[in-house]
Amino acid sequence: MRVSINILFIATLTEVLFSISCGSVDTSNTSITFNKDIAPIIHKNCSSCHRQGEAGPFALITYQDVRSKAKTIAKVVSKGLMPPWPADTSYSRFLGEKILPNNEKQLLLDWIAQGCEEGDPKMKPEVPVFPTFSRFGVPDAVIKISQPIEIPGDNRDRFLVVKMPYELERDTFVSIIEYVPGNRMLSHHVNGHMVHYAESGKRNVFEGPFAVDRDDVGTLDSSYRAIKLLNDDGTYPLLVPSAFNYLPGVEVQQYPEGIGGYRISRKGVMLLRDVHYGPSSKNDVDTPRINLFFAPKPPERPLLETQLGTLGISDIVPALVIPPDTVMRFTTRATIRQDISVVTINPHMHLLGKSFWAYAIKPDGDTIPLIRIPRWDFRWQYFYTFPKMLRIPSGSVVVAEGVFDNTTSNPNNPFNPPREITGTNGSMRTTDEMFQLIMNFLPYEPGDEKINLDPSVFKNKGL
Ligand code: HEC
Repeated sequence: MRVSINILFIATLTEVLFSISCGSVDTSNTSITFNKDIAPIIHKNCSSCHRQGEAGPFALITYQDVRSKAKTIAKVVSKGLMPPWPADTSYSRFLGEKILPNNEKQLLLDWIAQGCEEGDPKMKPEVPVFPTFSRFGVPDAVIKISQPIEIPGDNRDRFLVVKMPYELERDTFVSIIEYVPGNRMLSHHVNGHMVHYAESGKRNVFEGPFAVDRDDVGTLDSSYRAIKLLNDDGTYPLLVPSAFNYLPGVEVQQYPEGIGGYRISRKGVMLLRDVHYGPSSKNDVDTPRINLFFAPKPPERPLLETQLGTLGISDIVPALVIPPDTVMRFTTRATIRQDISVVTINPHMHLLGKSFWAYAIKPDGDTIPLIRIPRWDFRWQYFYTFPKMLRIPSGSVVVAEGVFDNTTSNPNNPFNPPREITGTNGSMRTTDEMFQLIMNFLPYEPGDEKINLDPSVFKNKGL
């Protein structure tokens, strides 16, 4: 609701109106004000997603924006739902954490409880400027989608497999692959692979169709066939997994020089293996693009990827079958055969996920915490990057435990009454389950644990 500011001075009205959003106005001189205290907190923690054309359902930038949503803000902030960061920060820490420090959270809640005072207009901070086209300047090449991805207005979440073909002048190297959604309101997450073709492997990389709905095709293999991803002779081309990804508000991960980066073939496809669009009530489209930043030489230490669980190197115990009306725990474990330096991890489950926990047990019995997600939310599937490379010594056992809730108390349960849900390997349907821990790592080199992965610390040349 919107209340004009002069109502603040009418005591009786103030009480009635502000019981709906802001609390009663604090008369002490030490009061918290938007311009002085709150705007910086909102701009730093909320506006990157809550602004025109971004994923947040409304803007949170100006005093009026924040004031009109004060009541819901108090609710979601005190419950820890916003900003969205499902990982437990008392268990392990990551770069780019979207959390409000306790003192800022308290200040925001107190400000709302005390009446949402605007404060001295002279202290009003500048509206932050957010990059729109690229965070890294002018890209060396831009891959555009061949035709817009259609999103029917049927109010349901949609999971697609999409290809973005390209041809470059020659084979080269890239240091950054930056996914830029065309429709930020609906784009909810993307996990992208890179597909390389040999010159003679595929004559026309641009042949359609370009997108299929996962729920229509069933398996990963059939979705790849449906978008004509295979070589002309029916064999599989070379696929580099998780070369890029996207979630609202997340900054593209950039690594210190020599680490990460890829060879990119002249002809290829950027494959959106998973693109998740939130529900829309009207027919809409998305026209994403991908910015490429070339590197002068091959990566010295390319990132490797492994995954535990579904489609991965380790079995799920017991097999992933979740009977109706049960809450069940599953475990998957893999022994590491060489010293590795872990950079990024990505836990993955679908709609029945309830909690996720991963750790490594060293040969001496000590535990290395990886991640704990006490309340799984399928909408926030981050790739979590450690602040420094995390060494896991050879002989350690990496363990992931996932709890799935197939009861009616899970609001995301796709079936009511609940049905038996299975995790068939390779199934892509969102109503089937997956349980995966994806890890990006390097073979360990002495000193790795000191390498800081925070781009604001290492500052690469030329970018
Ligand atoms: C990473 C992106 C992101 C950030 C950062 C973020 N939000 Fe949100 N917010 C969303 C999205 C997307 C939604 C829509 C609902 C959803 O998908 O959970 C939302 C929904 C909301 C809602 C509506 C909830 C409801 O139940 O109607 C409020 C209020 C809100 N956010 C407040 C905040 C505040 C306050 C901050 C900062 C402290 C913040 N958000 C930071 C993305 C974000």
